Amino acid sequence: MKFLNAIILVLILVVSLLACRQEDTGGKSNQPVKMSSLVQKEAWGKLADGSPVDRYTLTNKHGLVAQITNYGGIVVSLMTPDRNGKLGDVVLGYETLDEYVKDNPYFGCIVGRFGNRIANGQFEMDGKTYKLAKNDGENHLHGGLKGFDKVVWEAIPDTSKGEASLNLTYVSPDMEEGYPGNLEVRVVYTLTHNNELKITYFATPDKKTHVNLTHHSYFNLTGNAQRDILDHVLSITSNGFLPVDASLIPMGTLTSLNGSPFDFRKPKRIGLDINAEHEQLKIGHGYDHCWLLSSIKTGNMKNPAATVYEPISGRFMEVYTTDPGIQFYSGNFLDGKYKGKGGVVYQDRWGFCLETQHFPDTPNRSQNEWPSTVVMPGSHYSSTTIYKFAVK
Ligand code: BGC
Repeated sequence: MKFLNAIILVLILVVSLLACRQEDTGGKSNQPVKMSSLVQKEAWGKLADGSPVDRYTLTNKHGLVAQITNYGGIVVSLMTPDRNGKLGDVVLGYETLDEYVKDNPYFGCIVGRFGNRIANGQFEMDGKTYKLAKNDGENHLHGGLKGFDKVVWEAIPDTSKGEASLNLTYVSPDMEEGYPGNLEVRVVYTLTHNNELKITYFATPDKKTHVNLTHHSYFNLTGNAQRDILDHVLSITSNGFLPVDASLIPMGTLTSLNGSPFDFRKPKRIGLDINAEHEQLKIGHGYDHCWLLSSIKTGNMKNPAATVYEPISGRFMEVYTTDPGIQFYSGNFLDGKYKGKGGVVYQDRWGFCLETQHFPDTPNRSQNEWPSTVVMPGSHYSSTTIYKFAVK
């Protein structure tokens, strides 16, 4: 009898503890707030000026999980299964907001107003020179000193279509980082039930301006970054790439790929040619170049722009985009400087980026040379990119 009483007492204790925990989640504590079965929200810290920052957890029906913060729209983690069904995190990054604020080599963020470089940090439009922030030697990189990767976005989760989406909006003021026009930006992340991280970008200016938005996850498909990315097998559906000068600005000429280390038309190990004797690989310390996608004229997403396979885990990623180009960056400047999630120190080439975008330095090119990045007042910029996960 005594034994039965003890069991009943323990049961009552466990039930009341659980009830307390559930009440907590509705309050203002750091406990996650379940917004639906697909999205959770939790307070993730504050910036120095007191702005609160949240972290959202999106799930799909196959168990994929994406954690995204409204600071910089950063994808903090992305859990996908390996061929044995074991989940692993396929993006590099940090565990805390403070680390992202302190020193982030663009891990996982939204990049804007203009992804990639603009030569000499300036461009001319309608006879006027616009001087931009120079944050990469003499050049402007990824939107400047405080680009879209360092601002707090307004976040609204949406599950109305039966999938987890996060709507992020930000109004970039006229002349921010030197760009003309107020720009209303909306980026929607959706974790679809097809195992895709889908990103749609929209932007509307009130003055003529340039826009080129992209996403900067460093992927490592081994899961939890176990080693470098040199054994990942990459293909890029492209007919050429843009060679760059010493400051990584395209020299303008489209170089054919035939047999060069830049030829990824057939799937090839990233490490196979990365150290080959090639001037362009020396300049980039590896791959840090923009490829011209074969879908450049159509912008359709029928075929993948790129695919990546990691043979040990079996993870396979496809990239689809409406953009004309893709910057393949092989993580050449990680250099052991960043201690990431789980205490893993990211060395050179421990992550790669596939940044879908317009071509670098387009604002300084003639209108007919490359697809334009000009957006007129009242008209809309939009693009879509999908990172789709599977196993082989
Ligand atoms: C650029 C690299 C740069 C990296 C991190 C990439 O998008 O292509 O040159 O080092 O971002 O800033």
